[in-house]
Amino acid sequence: MESNWEELENSIEDCKKCKLCTTRTNIVFGCGNKNADIMMIGEGPGADEDKQGNPFVGKAGQLMNKAFEGVGIVRDEIYITNIVKCRPPQNRVPEDDEAKACLNYLRNQVILVNPKIIVLLGSTALKNILGKEYSITASRGKWIEKKGILYMPTWHPAALLRDEDKKIEFWKDLKEVVTRYSEIKNS
Ligand code: URA
Repeated sequence: MESNWEELENSIEDCKKCKLCTTRTNIVFGCGNKNADIMMIGEGPGADEDKQGNPFVGKAGQLMNKAFEGVGIVRDEIYITNIVKCRPPQNRVPEDDEAKACLNYLRNQVILVNPKIIVLLGSTALKNILGKEYSITASRGKWIEKKGILYMPTWHPAALLRDEDKKIEFWKDLKEVVTRYSEIKNS
């Protein structure tokens, strides 16, 4: 584990730990406040993210930004990253070996950010962080506390593009995050 951001960012610079390195344009490491109390974890970069080097800048990200505005989350105040830092071809789900190869970077990010709340965006984030036994359908909207961190699993923003009901639930889950966070801050 690296003890500071500079070392961690240097350590990933030329990463070849998995096959995704052969097809990526940019490593999408993460963005936002490195001391955030709220962290969001997605699945992996898409085409826009791969091109620009930042997470959630495409269609799904724009929809997520709208939800942030609606519930009062300021994007720059939270930290956003993904399970894998390089784009899986055709936006397929990251394979187990890819997620595993990348997981130490994420662990290191979590240690350095030291968030109080982690929002898990979709099944890939949920299963890789909390375990394969969790299902997003059963877990979304419910707090799970582990090792002093509160986890809120919710839908992946890309799923909202296809399903209006999920949009409502996603907003509800983010509102719950905002409410719980203000309770924590005021306690
Ligand atoms: N989907 C993700 O999971 N992450 C991104 O950064 C973009 C789309």
